[in-house]
Amino acid sequence: MPDTHDSAAAHGASEGDRHGIHATLNLTRRSFMATGAGAAIAATARIPPARAAPTGIPFGGAIQFEYFDDRPYRQAFLDHCDIVMPMNELKFGLLQRERGQFDFSRSDTLVDFARDNGKASRGHAFLWHSTNPPWVDALNDERDTESVVIDHIERVADHYRGRLASWDVVNEVIAHEPREAGGPLRDTIWRRNLGPRYIPLAFETAARADPDALLVINDYDLEFAGDRYDARRAVMLDLVRQLQDGGLHVDAVGCQAHLYAHFKVDVDALARFKEELEGMGVAFIVTELDVIDFQIRGGVEEQDAAATVVVSDLLDGVLSGRPPLAVVAWGITDRYSWVDDAMPHEDGKPSRPLPLDVDLRPKPWYDAMKARLLAAS
Ligand code: XIL
Repeated sequence: MPDTHDSAAAHGASEGDRHGIHATLNLTRRSFMATGAGAAIAATARIPPARAAPTGIPFGGAIQFEYFDDRPYRQAFLDHCDIVMPMNELKFGLLQRERGQFDFSRSDTLVDFARDNGKASRGHAFLWHSTNPPWVDALNDERDTESVVIDHIERVADHYRGRLASWDVVNEVIAHEPREAGGPLRDTIWRRNLGPRYIPLAFETAARADPDALLVINDYDLEFAGDRYDARRAVMLDLVRQLQDGGLHVDAVGCQAHLYAHFKVDVDALARFKEELEGMGVAFIVTELDVIDFQIRGGVEEQDAAATVVVSDLLDGVLSGRPPLAVVAWGITDRYSWVDDAMPHEDGKPSRPLPLDVDLRPKPWYDAMKARLLAAS
């Protein structure tokens, strides 16, 4: 998850040369690809079909079980979304709180809600550094950790086979500042116990467990202007390349798009990044769109004006080249969002992160975005 109030960290990040990234990448093909979990899958560079919405690029929203009883909230997803996905309920700690005991009840409620209403859904996420149960954080044996990874992905992917169009196989594997010592990968329980090979291991297992799901590598801070963001994009390209070199499918890169309203999206760099991925047969999907406006002074008008700029810049980058698979927002209404918990305004003013306000009225930036998604198909 992005550091809270990470603007200071982002701007204060030391400048490193881009070659340094590759020098420190430390993912030799051998260490990275030594999955030890069976034969690699032949790469066929399958280019995912654009998952067509009735018209336009599909738009989605992440729904939360704890608010499911709020009927207007629930209805808003049906009114506005082609994709309705569980926000938290498919995370490791919510599915397998105790080792070997899987509880799919909450995630099933949400996935069934989507399906019963003719909506697609997607999975977030097999492996992450956060929201792990205590027993996972206590793992300290390589073979044991490997069997936990394989077992979890197999069980969960199998349970949802045919019901989830895509999976975030790994989430936020790139270090916040990938040029710092210890980078470019984030220090996680998975990396600590397995080394970098946990990433191909996860992709290999997911591909075997649900051959039809599109497999996504998902991360944040892939869209802004600045050296740290250039570094993160470069690391992502390297990761995808290495997975492909090892014979694994990566169907898409997920760009979370938690958009800091006071940051600048690097439209050209984003378009180039996307083009490079396209050249490798890898699609692009916006997975967690919302606007983080705690640095925006003034009132609702200023907040929405800033949001309009940052979202429109994102779309300029994302809509260049092949259409993205989808644009998914991290919620649907300002009634419920993680943004005010993680990055609140100092003066207590409510954030306005999501397409609909607290009264479920569409924001101007949402209307504009919807029109562009419709036109871009
Ligand atoms: C957040 C959810 O929105 C919160 O409800 C939860 O308490 C913590 O996780 N990046 C991610 C998401 O990949 O899973 C995070 O979601 C937000 C940042």
